[in-house]
Amino acid sequence: MAETLIKIRDLKTYFPVKKSIFSKKLFVRAVDNVNMDVPKGSTFAVVGESGSGKTTLARTVLRLIEPTSGEIEFDGKNILGLKGKDLLEVRRNMQIVFQDPYNSLHPRKLIKNIIGEGMKIHFKISEIEIRDRIASVLKEVGLIDDHMYRYAHEFSGGQRQRIAFARAIVLKPKFIVLDEPTSALDVSVQAMVLKMLKEIKVQENLTYMFITHNLSLVDYIADKVAVMYVGEVVEMGDKATIFNHPAHPYTDLLMASNPIPDPKFVREKRLLKGEIPSSINPPSGCRFHNRCPFADERCAREEPELREIKPGHFVRCHYPL
Ligand SMILES: Nc1ncnc2c1ncn2[C@@H]1O[C@H](COP(=O)(O)OP(=O)(O)O)[C@@H](O)[C@H]1O
Ligand code: SF4
Ligand SMILES: [Mg+2]
Repeated sequence: MAETLIKIRDLKTYFPVKKSIFSKKLFVRAVDNVNMDVPKGSTFAVVGESGSGKTTLARTVLRLIEPTSGEIEFDGKNILGLKGKDLLEVRRNMQIVFQDPYNSLHPRKLIKNIIGEGMKIHFKISEIEIRDRIASVLKEVGLIDDHMYRYAHEFSGGQRQRIAFARAIVLKPKFIVLDEPTSALDVSVQAMVLKMLKEIKVQENLTYMFITHNLSLVDYIADKVAVMYVGEVVEMGDKATIFNHPAHPYTDLLMASNPIPDPKFVREKRLLKGEIPSSINPPSGCRFHNRCPFADERCAREEPELREIKPGHFVRCHYPL
């Protein structure tokens, strides 16, 4: 079995909500009781509808947000206690590419400075070495070295995501979060960017957390999948298991409402009905009970735990399918 790169235990990230004078203190439970092991070298997909907590989970793992409670280990180190030099080293090793390529790159900075900034912080190297390294990563991501003397606003969305990715890999990290990296791009551009991500992962020996709500992308790129619902992981396992034998009614409906075209595997299209509940005041018992076709009185009363129903296959449901 592959070694674990990131180990997450009982992670909670809550945001305080402005309270009205009548109510008690309220929180958005953006990430709630998350447990997860991301194996070294994997592409670990985090899937879920908008607002399910995917971005907050990633930002907490990268220590861009402090969690409310829980533990995060990176490469065997508890990162929540790290400070100074040790924290800087972990920061270099964990990078993120954001969803929106138009906001994530400063429009009036030279690409050379955007990509070079992190190197100045993390490495003691000369200007010439920095320039050579930038030229080489630009080529790696499918651009040319002369692009370093242009500004971000001169590039298309797809090229900007390549630049954002170059900025991440130039620091030689072990782990990269890709937060819906292609959702703002045209479909044809998407395919090329995904292919590049897949190839560089192998070349650079990377581990990815790939956040998306698009199951076809998961099918293309991932080997592990965690499904999130209202801040919690409801199902997790190998991609083949999650796609072919989903055991949580939510995963099953998510698959059936977004069937992936596959001539070998014809799935009846069923719709996921109802609204996603609020993570400020989640439903009692199982958070999916108001939308679940199998819910009974126990589901409304008793919260299911995330259980390992088969080796490596985890499900948060009283009555797995
Ligand atoms: N900084 C914040 N302050 C308050 N609430 C937040 C903040 N960031 C996210 N949230 C809330 O947390 C929940 C999860 O959001 P997010 O992690 O962005 O979900 P996703 O990435 O799955 O769409 C949402 O209800 C969102 O409104
Ligand atoms: S615990 Fe009950 S309500 Fe929740 S998913 Fe399972 S069957 Fe449905
Ligand atoms: Mg998000």
